Amino acid sequence: MDSVTVVDHPLVQHKLTFMRKKESSTAGFRRLLREISLLLCYEVTRELPMTMETIETPLAEMRSPVLEGKKLVFASVLRAGNGLLEGMLDLVPSARVAHIGLYRDHETLEPVEYYFKAPEDLSDRLVIVVDPMLATANSAIAAIAKLKERGAKDLRFVCLLAAPEGVKKFTEAHPDVPIVTASIDERLNEKGYIVPGLGDAGDRMYGTK
Ligand code: PRP
Ligand code: URA
Repeated sequence: MDSVTVVDHPLVQHKLTFMRKKESSTAGFRRLLREISLLLCYEVTRELPMTMETIETPLAEMRSPVLEGKKLVFASVLRAGNGLLEGMLDLVPSARVAHIGLYRDHETLEPVEYYFKAPEDLSDRLVIVVDPMLATANSAIAAIAKLKERGAKDLRFVCLLAAPEGVKKFTEAHPDVPIVTASIDERLNEKGYIVPGLGDAGDRMYGTK
């Protein structure tokens, strides 16, 4: 995969516009995030390896493709990652799931870890890390470092919005991990928020502000 893929599909861009609007409701925001996650999942899994299997249709025997290898892992960076995770599990129901609890300290913008649970055998599985926002990239860099520590070798990162500063820092820290995003916005503001962005993804998903 390219090191950064921006998914410019019209449906993704249309839905993202509605998510950005400050007047979108909590329910609407969550629904749109789930819908976009299906389209981002389609994109990030586009090059999964396949193998051929012999099957019988009602009319004939044939060789037909199925996914090869061990079940993939979705790793959700809590809380907001769960908004992408749920839709992705609809498309790949047999995937394994890792949860990484991180929040960004509002003063230092450094990630603080509070939870980690992942399948044990990460080394021979594709791990797709999901979090809607790549701002300073501190959270994503820490999440991926933790997964690598636990053996993950083949990773991808999926987000909804990225800041150019975050993309640069992320690709320097983890040049082996491709990014899939719906948009690279203009910049970070002085508080580390993506501009124009959509605000705080977790708060907008769960109505906590
Ligand atoms: C948000 C977002 C990312 C992080 C991005 O989470 O979901 O995890 O900020 O910022 P960064 O790239 O500068 O690290 P937050 O820390 O607000 O936690 P939450 O999902 O629990 O609201
Ligand atoms: N986290 C968010 O939820 N939004 C931003 O703009 C930056 C970090």
